[in-house]
Amino acid sequence: MKVYIETYGCQMNVGDSEVILSILKKNGFTLTTNMDDADLILANTCSIRDNAEQRIWGRVEQFNLVKRRKKDAKVGIVGCMAERLKDELLASGKVDIVCGPDAYRRLPELVGNVGSSEPTIDVQLSRTETYDDIVPERLDSKGVSAFISIMRGCNNVCSYCIVPYTRGVERSREPQSIIDEALDLAGRGYKEITLLGQNVNSYNWNNGELTFPMLMEKVATAVPGVRIRFSTSNPHDLSDDLLHVIAKYPNVCKHIHLPVQSGSNAMLEKMRRKYTREWYLERVAKIREIIPGCGLSTDVIAGFCGETLEDHLQTVSLMDEVGFDSAFMFQYSERPGTLAARKYADDVPNEEKTRRLNEIIEHQVHSSAQRYGAQYGRKLEVLIEGKSKRSDADLCGRASNNMMCVFPDLQPGVDRTGKYATVQVVGSTSATLLCEEIQK
Ligand code: SAH
Ligand code: SF4
Ligand code: F3S
Repeated sequence: MKVYIETYGCQMNVGDSEVILSILKKNGFTLTTNMDDADLILANTCSIRDNAEQRIWGRVEQFNLVKRRKKDAKVGIVGCMAERLKDELLASGKVDIVCGPDAYRRLPELVGNVGSSEPTIDVQLSRTETYDDIVPERLDSKGVSAFISIMRGCNNVCSYCIVPYTRGVERSREPQSIIDEALDLAGRGYKEITLLGQNVNSYNWNNGELTFPMLMEKVATAVPGVRIRFSTSNPHDLSDDLLHVIAKYPNVCKHIHLPVQSGSNAMLEKMRRKYTREWYLERVAKIREIIPGCGLSTDVIAGFCGETLEDHLQTVSLMDEVGFDSAFMFQYSERPGTLAARKYADDVPNEEKTRRLNEIIEHQVHSSAQRYGAQYGRKLEVLIEGKSKRSDADLCGRASNNMMCVFPDLQPGVDRTGKYATVQVVGSTSATLLCEEIQK
């Protein structure tokens, strides 16, 4: 049986697709990158905003075209949308298998049940499942960067967010299995590991026996030749201990993704983010004090319930004040069943949400251009990802601060993917550093 898999949503889903593939391979499946060739077509899905789900419904139509040509092909929806919509997906008549994020071990069985009277859906959430014994089957063919999922679920219940409902309660993975996975990756030549969780800083093994900063330290020392990144931190839980660990280890990348969501205290409270604007700004100051030159990026939501023009301008002013290197910026999308959907009216008109989002984007573009411009003249160590998208004569890769660097390839004909280059910044755009390699 051949399986084809498309992955949507966050990095956690990418990590999960690798777990799914590992489970399926053990059960006789092989991977195909050609949908027309597949016996099983899977979409690992995202429910974070309505447009994420709409896009997947569109793909389901495409999958069903394959089924018309190939009668015994099966279509499965896994991940967050499976968990949110449950039977509704089967009832559409366009989906054969529905499997939630904690039920992947049963996926081969569910596939086998298609056409019988046995169930083809499992959306049971777990308090303990972390897939810690499963060695993920890596999907990134370059063999340079890999994800390690260190925790699952989320206990935060931010009022706008569907994740706690699709992913269940927070649980941390057994630390030795994390270290073993890191060692295995290092042994296979991987150069960069990203530790993943919806809220990595609340990683907690055995009631405080091992916290996230302690785990980070263990991983950093276990694989000193490998770069370590992590995602995502809630500002509320970002501790000085972690900042000191990031500063101490050269292989821990100097970049923090710290979603702020809003610059207005009224909105932050309604969002149940558990911090204020002032707290956030203090955390940023601490980051810059303990880790000079640290890269900083964020997520922002425009037009949350009851957001006034004044609230919105507070977000804009916070963004100007912090000067983020980059940001993911979204219009608020009401998610059924969340606290915000139950309690507050989604009352900012759509055109106004778009207008506010555009204003936010404009300020961010300006801020990115400044932050990238300020790197002029700096020497940076870049992990080469391959040829640049624009030109085969250039290489690209990220600096420790997560900024994308592009520079002329001095050794054309030699594949330097996964090697380091020392570069000097000679120019910039709002999303790229233009560099020249310094030959040693
Ligand atoms: N666990 C991560 C966020 C995961 S979701 C964290 O808390 O940092 C990624 C981003 O999607 C969020 O940071 C938020 O900016 C955005 N998001 C979440 N729910 C949303 C909604 N209902 N509408 C619009 N954007 C949303
Ligand atoms: Fe959602 Fe908040 Fe959890 Fe992030 S921390 S996944 S935004 S509930
Ligand atoms: Fe989307 Fe689920 Fe990730 S809702 S953002 S795929 S946790």
